[in-house]
Amino acid sequence: MIKVLRSVILLLVVCSIIGYKGNVLAAPVLIDSLKRMEYRGYDSVGIATITDGKILVRKGVGKVAEVNRSLDLGRMPGQMGIGHTRWATHGGVTDSNAHPHSACTNDIAVVHNGIIENYSELKEELMLQGHIFKSQTDSEVIAHLLEAHYSKEGSIKQAMIETCKRLKGAYAFVAVFEEGTISGARFDEPLIIGIVDNGYFISSDILGFLKYTDKSIFLDNKDIAIIDGEKLELFDFEGFSIKRPITQVAWELAAVEKGAYAHHTLKEIHQQVQTIIEGMSDSKEKMEAFCSFLTNAKSIYITGSGTSYHSTLILKHIFGKFAKIRSEAIMSSEFQYMAQDPIDETSVLIAISQSGETADVLQSVKAAKQMRAKILSIVNVPTSSLARISNSFLNVNCGPEIGVAATKSFTGQLSALYNVTDTLCHGCIGIAANKNELIAAVNLILSTENNIAKIVNTMYDVKDIYILGRSLHYPIALEGALKIKELAYIHAEGIAAGELKHGPLALIDKNTVVIVINPSDSTFDDTISNAHEIKARGAFVIGISDKENDLYDHFIKIPKVKEALFPLIEVIPLQILAYYLALKKNVDPDYPRNLAKSVTVK
Ligand code: F6R
Repeated sequence: MIKVLRSVILLLVVCSIIGYKGNVLAAPVLIDSLKRMEYRGYDSVGIATITDGKILVRKGVGKVAEVNRSLDLGRMPGQMGIGHTRWATHGGVTDSNAHPHSACTNDIAVVHNGIIENYSELKEELMLQGHIFKSQTDSEVIAHLLEAHYSKEGSIKQAMIETCKRLKGAYAFVAVFEEGTISGARFDEPLIIGIVDNGYFISSDILGFLKYTDKSIFLDNKDIAIIDGEKLELFDFEGFSIKRPITQVAWELAAVEKGAYAHHTLKEIHQQVQTIIEGMSDSKEKMEAFCSFLTNAKSIYITGSGTSYHSTLILKHIFGKFAKIRSEAIMSSEFQYMAQDPIDETSVLIAISQSGETADVLQSVKAAKQMRAKILSIVNVPTSSLARISNSFLNVNCGPEIGVAATKSFTGQLSALYNVTDTLCHGCIGIAANKNELIAAVNLILSTENNIAKIVNTMYDVKDIYILGRSLHYPIALEGALKIKELAYIHAEGIAAGELKHGPLALIDKNTVVIVINPSDSTFDDTISNAHEIKARGAFVIGISDKENDLYDHFIKIPKVKEALFPLIEVIPLQILAYYLALKKNVDPDYPRNLAKSVTVK
């Protein structure tokens, strides 16, 4: 039981890290950066700055603005410092468990993202040596280990190396040393350097420093960085000096602002007019290189989590139907439990991930790589860990997605997947040829937003929502249900319409709302029969289709598009519906409770 609870808690973790050393006051810069990373989710905040050779730490429970107000973080002196937003893992949500964590003598402070799996063993060992712990976190062991090695070796470089060698688990951490040095290291959690005139940033997310610079260095696993004076030194866990390229990040800062929209989620739903098209904008050469791995593969596996898993289901379907390619779609969190024997050097694993940092996805990829499979990925962050370990990747190219719930990245993924399939079947679906038709269809659906909001107003106190769809519409039913669960905290289930009679029909009564995805394709007649069955049992039925029917209590009209392309547009009314259900429940659609944007731990 304890094990089960622990893994449930771990599933929800993600923290943000920022460090800065430059020629302006660090605290206001760190606060600004932490605010930009707010979308990742957190429960407490802290900052450490260095002034006159002393480390000053302030931290507390709450949002960045609240903790800033109560502790006056912005006025902390010093031109270098580190900041952190925490999402509780080990130890409750308390001031003392917030980061940064200091060692015994306050000469070192540390911020950390990830899980130190062997922390209890390390803590015991350090306590026997006389170290006194002030928190229940796993992270605090890093500060004490650094302190122990630094006092023994007298070198920050050596202390970093020895500390990293003792840590087990996935981590990125950044430490400040009172003599005015910042150092960071990573293993299976992202850490990125931002280069500015006269200084550096070090962060878990490029949004942490994108306002100040687009010049970045993406650290690899087992990289250590030391920022000392004006100098940046990079080396590996063995102490050998390494070089990493400077990358120019393509994202614009304006892309992370809400603009005129009430929420990021609403803005991102509306952006789909452009992003559906951007999803197929990779060059012909890149697409051909990607597809050459598929044409040479003996077996193809597809993996992803959450919304990206729903994309894998669509890909499996269109691969089979249009490109005549057999493939298997596996949830990333289940990948490790499936029989791995068939995977070998003739296999390809396609990993789909918006962030390219999801731990479950990366773990599946590593397992497949160990079995010598080729890795293809579809990501929205071309500099992500996933893109960098892939043999070839395609970019969804929809810009930063700030709303925690995936919207534009899902349709962007679908557009990339249709494009891949089209390349393999010589344009048999014709997504590119139907671009204008798709843009017009998305615009038309977005123009029905007020009608969808009105339908939501009639859904008083709804407790259960079922969404039905057959064939390609079934993954969309799953995706619609996921949106309603996470945005509006209402129980929702996507059901393959033909499965109703095998059990779920027993749940239907006059209190249930059933949404039927039923465009006029080959599934239409069978799904209408299912809609009659549920209507006869008193359910309130909402139809999403290009073809109206009297049995629907409410009807959301979508335009007719080429049959195979319906999934790209029919998900949009479900996203809008989930958004308005969240507003009706008075909850923030951008930051659903208990969830984080990028789940970088298992
Ligand atoms: C749902 C949602 C999540 C993500 C999942 C995978 O709206 O956002 O289910 O889809 O955590 O994330 P990525 O795609 O970044 O691997």
